[in-house]
Amino acid sequence: MTEQDFILKSYNSNIENGSVKWSSPSNIALVKYWGKKEHQIPENPSISFTLSNCKTITEVTYSKKAGNDFSFDVYFEGEKNEAFKPKIQIFFERIETYMPFLRDYHFKIETSNTFPHSSGIASSASGMSAIALCLMSIEQKLKEDVTLSAVERSFDKNYFNQKASFLARLGSGSACRSIEGELVVWGKNESTESSDLYGVKFDGEVHSNFKNYQDTILLVDKGEKQVSSTVGHKLMFGHPFAKERFAQAHDNLATLKAILAFGDLKAFVKVVESEALTLHAMMMTSMPYFILMKPNTLEIINKIWQYRAENDSNVCFTLDAGANVHVLYPEREKQNILEFIKSELVSYCQNGHYICDQIGLGANQIGF
Ligand code: DP6
Repeated sequence: MTEQDFILKSYNSNIENGSVKWSSPSNIALVKYWGKKEHQIPENPSISFTLSNCKTITEVTYSKKAGNDFSFDVYFEGEKNEAFKPKIQIFFERIETYMPFLRDYHFKIETSNTFPHSSGIASSASGMSAIALCLMSIEQKLKEDVTLSAVERSFDKNYFNQKASFLARLGSGSACRSIEGELVVWGKNESTESSDLYGVKFDGEVHSNFKNYQDTILLVDKGEKQVSSTVGHKLMFGHPFAKERFAQAHDNLATLKAILAFGDLKAFVKVVESEALTLHAMMMTSMPYFILMKPNTLEIINKIWQYRAENDSNVCFTLDAGANVHVLYPEREKQNILEFIKSELVSYCQNGHYICDQIGLGANQIGF
């Protein structure tokens, strides 16, 4: 597939209005995307677990309009929201070539999250993938016209998911990994089926040790991100360790592929924690430099290491570009780890807040 394959060439312009609704999950990267080229092309491949409970639910209502401007309103959790508009405006500009009907309609975008917006959990992955899926459903409806040829009307689930992921990527890179589950790879590499343009369901074997893998998200700092990921990615331009880091991500993905097949939990812990710390090391060694962990992030990491050593556990952590900690563990350790979290880690969370999640299957259309 190339960019050209995603251009919608003809569509039924007689449809006056309608509405579509999707729920789309967040995801947590095991091998991290950090650094990108122009047009949202990643510098290195990444792989993530799709989550299950942390989701954005978005309904898009469209109605035919006159004029040639983009026209849309955004409602977040029932209230009109101006703050999200610039990001969506940029998104529309980036995807217009592929969705030529965007200027034909006024869009009412109503969106809400199942997790608190101010939790510091990346809502761009679930948010951008949900809106991309809604636009794909609209595209699908506009293609149902009887005057179109059979090929033009054909609906292929693979194409739908690929283009949804392609569009989501143009909104936010990591969003392209949220369309499907349970593991998704993004970024061309030699070890797995992959593309720089969209996320691809991981094609390797996955051992039963990873079935229903758990992710409990400890909310250490619910404030605004100190560095936006857009700024963060830019720090990899001319970064002294960039070349080595990008090569390492390829190696780690290859290693992880074997780990996932053999169910080697001890080796999984090593790759995943090293990836998280490398991401933060990149930020500490860029210019300007940042420390995105908080003292409580380190307290939690040390407690996890101590617990793992004392209990021969396979619990581990990963981090995004912030202070919150994702605690990852196999389903069979669930009861023990939840007790450990409640008794030893919750006190390091802001207002004692944490979110229980697990690996999920991807986005769902709600109503037709
Ligand atoms: C640290 O996808 O938020 O979470 O493409 O600029 O929107 P943009 O960046 P974004 O970056 C996420 C980076 C990360 C690692 C990851 O999810 O792979």
